[in-house]
Amino acid sequence: MRAIICREYGPADMLTQGEMDSPAIGPDDIRIRVYGAAINFPDNLIIQGKYQAKPPMPFAPGFEIAGEVIETGTNVSTLHPGDHVMALTRDGYGGFAEEAAARAELAVPVPEGMDCITASGFYSSYGTSYYALVRRGRIQAKETLVVLGAAGGVGLASIEIAKALGATVIAVASSPHKLETARAHGADHLIDYGREDLKQRVLELTDGQGADLCMDTVGGEAFNSMSRCMRHDGRLLIVGFASGQIPQIPANLLLLKNFQVAGIFWWPAVQRNPAQHQASFRHLSELYRAGKLRPLIAQTYPLEKTPDALKMVLSRNLTGKLVITPTAEPRN
Ligand SMILES: NC(=O)c1ccc[n+]([C@@H]2O[C@H](COP(=O)([O-])OP(=O)(O)OC[C@H]3O[C@@H](n4cnc5c(N)ncnc54)[C@H](OP(=O)(O)O)[C@@H]3O)[C@@H](O)[C@H]2O)c1
Repeated sequence: MRAIICREYGPADMLTQGEMDSPAIGPDDIRIRVYGAAINFPDNLIIQGKYQAKPPMPFAPGFEIAGEVIETGTNVSTLHPGDHVMALTRDGYGGFAEEAAARAELAVPVPEGMDCITASGFYSSYGTSYYALVRRGRIQAKETLVVLGAAGGVGLASIEIAKALGATVIAVASSPHKLETARAHGADHLIDYGREDLKQRVLELTDGQGADLCMDTVGGEAFNSMSRCMRHDGRLLIVGFASGQIPQIPANLLLLKNFQVAGIFWWPAVQRNPAQHQASFRHLSELYRAGKLRPLIAQTYPLEKTPDALKMVLSRNLTGKLVITPTAEPRN
């Protein structure tokens, strides 16, 4: 099969397209013909040897995929060849390739009416946001959610899920264009944290009460500001550190303001509770079919252009997801 191959650690330009063996599957796995493979921030870390997991060389990077099941392991009864699924790859790499292996119980059906390019960019953004907001944040209708990095993949998904569940959303981003994108995906209020005082504006927009919930994918100074404008019983959800700065949690503020901080790491939670994960995606599929979720794919790239996509994701200009298309999805 064709794949994008990493032979030694380095920047995206050192990746080459070549031939690799299709991955062998075990009894609990499925083999997928990959129609879409989304780009994620850790892809750039893995190819440079800067990620916790260090795959054996040579390897194909990429881990978030959607496509058609073409083979099932002997223990797999829930999926069949021909099914369209979205998944993370079994090994955490191997997605920028024509075929990839995934664990069957963690793969979910592509919602009716969604193509596999969209599905590959849907799985972890919406999965992470749903897990954070619903399972951990216990979001309620009429609560106010602040979304940092609101025009990113997780940010836009969080806006849409929160709106679908009846919450009010304050979107926070670094440019007018990004804020307009957040508004188009349902945000009620907008804050440009490059130009405005984040804490002050959140307090203004909540009648001085503060936010019930915050999705923090950014960290750094934005976290420091949000930890000073959370409401009594608020939940500040730590999802990522896109700013590159890991903040310190001020324990005195947690006490004085009676709010909670929760760490969110989606994939280990999925592996611990596959049944809950499948239930979450049944609900997400319903919301998608009801027209309440509109995942944004910014651009697609053929397999050989993967290095360009990996470089693009490092720029801070992106809204939505970038997707590699190793194999063209047949049209019905
Ligand atoms: N914990 C989990 O399970 C989990 C799951 C998925 C993703 N994540 C993490 O969550 C974060 C967001 O993921 P995503 O897919 O939404 O990423 P994304 O699409 O790249 O969006 C990240 C956002 O972060 C903001 N940002 C702030 N400072 C930045 C900087 N110095 N460089 C680049 N962006 C910066 C940007 O918005 P502004 O320009 O508006 O500030 C950008 O839109 C990532 O760190 C990712 O690793 C965690």
